[in-house]
Amino acid sequence: MSNNPNKKIVIAVDGFSSCGKSTFAKMVAAHLGYIFIDTGAMYRAVTLYALEHGAFTNGILDEDKLIAMLDDIHIDFRFNPERGASDIYVGGEWVEGKIRTIEVSNLVSAVSAVGEVRRRLVAIQQQMGRDKGVVMDGRDIGTVVFPDAELKIFMTADPEVRAERRYIELTAKGEEVSREEIVENIRQRDYLDQNRAISPLRKADDAIVLDNGGMSLKEEMEWFDKVFSSI
Ligand code: DC
Repeated sequence: MSNNPNKKIVIAVDGFSSCGKSTFAKMVAAHLGYIFIDTGAMYRAVTLYALEHGAFTNGILDEDKLIAMLDDIHIDFRFNPERGASDIYVGGEWVEGKIRTIEVSNLVSAVSAVGEVRRRLVAIQQQMGRDKGVVMDGRDIGTVVFPDAELKIFMTADPEVRAERRYIELTAKGEEVSREEIVENIRQRDYLDQNRAISPLRKADDAIVLDNGGMSLKEEMEWFDKVFSSI
């Protein structure tokens, strides 16, 4: 492929929870003038809706109830210039704050394992990336959503490093969580993401690995520039 800057491509960023995928994908999108799409936010938004509309009882998901709700869940993204990225709305309500709580993080794996949820969200994601010029982050972008993406990046980092980042992020927002709770949530999501029957998290054969454990954001971008100029 020629690296003609006028030829827009699809960049798929997959990897483990709390690896900094969104931060990285957002920086890459801003750098290239591309649109950044956070697909995890979509699974979180469906989870929030399910939670607020009685599809969970004592933390257990009633799949049939959720599937019956799907036609009523209207998700859209609206650009927020302060964040330099799009915020997610459900039924016209801004839900960026609500979807990032530990409560939603603990329930999202059950929702993202439901085939019908994935089928619908994947169709929306494919539509959003149809004209290319997107950086999309998630778990199955390079394997399922855009298996022909011109550039696939698979991000990983040590679970302890990821937990510390998430701890700093959540406590900065005033959420009361312990480090132990976060480590447990990350380990559990790693396991569930990799072992679910439908579209499990795995590195696409042609993805390039970025282990950003000891890297600064500046170093991540230097890494990206090198990779981007080599494709
Ligand atoms: O990236 P995140 O942590 O915000 O994602 C939330 C959850 O959604 C994550 O536990 C796995 C799921 N997910 C998925 O199954 N497929 C995607 N493309 C994105 C996220």
